[in-house]
Amino acid sequence: MAKFIVLLGPPGAGKGTQAQILSKALNLAHISSGDIFRENLKNQTELGKLAQKYMDRGALVPDDITIAMIQERLSRSDCINGALLDGFPRTPTQAIALDELLSKSNQKIDCVPYINVPAEVLIERLSGRWTCPTCGYVYHEKFNPPTVPGICDKDQSKLYQRVDDKEETVKKRIDVYWEQTSPLIEYYRQNNLLVEVDGTQSIENVSSQLLEALQRICSV
Ligand code: AP5
Repeated sequence: MAKFIVLLGPPGAGKGTQAQILSKALNLAHISSGDIFRENLKNQTELGKLAQKYMDRGALVPDDITIAMIQERLSRSDCINGALLDGFPRTPTQAIALDELLSKSNQKIDCVPYINVPAEVLIERLSGRWTCPTCGYVYHEKFNPPTVPGICDKDQSKLYQRVDDKEETVKKRIDVYWEQTSPLIEYYRQNNLLVEVDGTQSIENVSSQLLEALQRICSV
């Protein structure tokens, strides 16, 4: 049976890092709303140009645009076994839309791991993040460095820093998270789907805890 898992947590909590590890371990499609917007921006599509206006200032892209984009992504064949959602939903409207979307095909969310990390740690993580433009692998200059600084271990591409990781924009993104996304913690807790994981541990320990929780709660 297909499994749908929503990774919840503030910017820099490690959602993308963990989604890359878990999607391989569990053979689930990794759907990152931020990555889809960035890919569209790279290709200068209308969606990308529109999203950039919001992303550059740390604001959320409007719900209707984001929901339509995820609906299309979920309809692709690689989601037949389910998906690991990273960065979506991010507002109560998006959460309700996802429930409705899945229920149309007799599916539902199986588990919502919440990666909890305090604000001061988030800023250090985001300011040291480096990403590979080719394979999307995420490094950190201190916590998960590449072998050669600035170069991807996997394909030797030159790593880049995200425009929205400037300190001022990071602070805005964290504020937006608390105002607009954090109500989802309660929403999923009330639906008995939330499982909280301490995201301040090492990347490996967070992965082990997530895998253990997913196996226990939804038999992945
Ligand atoms: P998005 O790309 O989703 O960004 P985010 O949620 O702000 O999350 P991040 O990617 O910044 O952090 P992460 O939790 O994935 O952390 P990571 O694993 O990289 O969204 C960007 C923008 O797109 C939004 O601001 C918005 O404009 C728009 N958008 C996206 N989705 C939307 C939606 N649904 N609705 C509306 N708008 C939307 O880790 C961070 C760093 O920490 C890395 O360097 C990593 O190596 C390091 N690290 C990770 N784990 C650990 C650990 N355990 N210990 C030490 N270091 C660690």
